[in-house]
Amino acid sequence: MPHSTNALQLHMVLFKKITQLQQYLAKAVTTGQQIGFVPTMGALHEGHLQLVKQSLQTTQLTVCSIFVNPTQFNDANDFDKYPITLEADIECLEQQGCHVLFIPSVQEMYPTGVQASQHYPLGNLENVLEGAFRPNHYQGVCQVVHRLLDIVQPHQLFLGQKDFQQCMVLQWLVDFLALPTQIHIVPTVRNTQGLALSSRNTRLTEPQQQQALAIYQNMAWLKTQLKPGKLTALTEHIKTNLLAAGFEKIDYVAICEPTTLTEVQEWDGQTNLVVLVAAFLHGVRLIDNEYITI
Ligand code: PAJ
Repeated sequence: MPHSTNALQLHMVLFKKITQLQQYLAKAVTTGQQIGFVPTMGALHEGHLQLVKQSLQTTQLTVCSIFVNPTQFNDANDFDKYPITLEADIECLEQQGCHVLFIPSVQEMYPTGVQASQHYPLGNLENVLEGAFRPNHYQGVCQVVHRLLDIVQPHQLFLGQKDFQQCMVLQWLVDFLALPTQIHIVPTVRNTQGLALSSRNTRLTEPQQQQALAIYQNMAWLKTQLKPGKLTALTEHIKTNLLAAGFEKIDYVAICEPTTLTEVQEWDGQTNLVVLVAAFLHGVRLIDNEYITI
């Protein structure tokens, strides 16, 4: 039986089949346990594990999923190159005390094929920022998370702020489907110098990771410079700095209203903002963001 405490538990239960997972979860729910859910695509690092920790602290039964979802990759090459480290992932999750791991196959998740069965009317949220550079990405994310939420029916869903736009998209999905699931946005886990943890960092050498710090440093600089009025000069300045730091291409540096992700050109000095960055360094696309709260 799953523990209801945070004590180290070395008996994680692993499911590949939906029906077996659901039978297990149904029993837990009848005993009044709250289910916390952490969806991932594996290649786990401390960022992912922080979501698991939060779930263990907040709920009684933590379910993590590992599924490299083919429908959210707009670049087939990116999908083929996606790192798979299942054995190490299982070990980390077990060490952490995660109760249940769900690792379905593509056939199990999409028995009638991977084609979309519905279009999610995300509006502006999927046209801006990541949406503009990764066509159909958020349709794929909604498709897989909708399916996972149907299967797991969690009370609480744990997402990382690292993928800020994804958090907004999935909050939209939960509202759209009128689900009772509560979303927790867990702050981005960074290394000691400030680099946001990402499975893509392993494609950068140590000196290149030092260069990558320019994103975090520029976001920190922005916070000290912000004052009411036009914001374009600040974002342009950051773009120039990133190019000078060795980034070869910048997809965006944008200061936005946090929920709708509408870009704020002129700031009234009163609304909260979020700064979001996506840029390429040595062929690796890095994203990061920071809240700017008043
Ligand atoms: P994946 O990239 O594996 O990320 C799983 C979760 O870990 C996401 O909520 C992500 O925001 C969070 N995460 C990643 N790096 C983090 C960091 N440094 N600090 C805090 N949280 C971090 O995001 C996905 O998978 C997929 O799109 C998914 C939601 C699973 C749907 O397929």
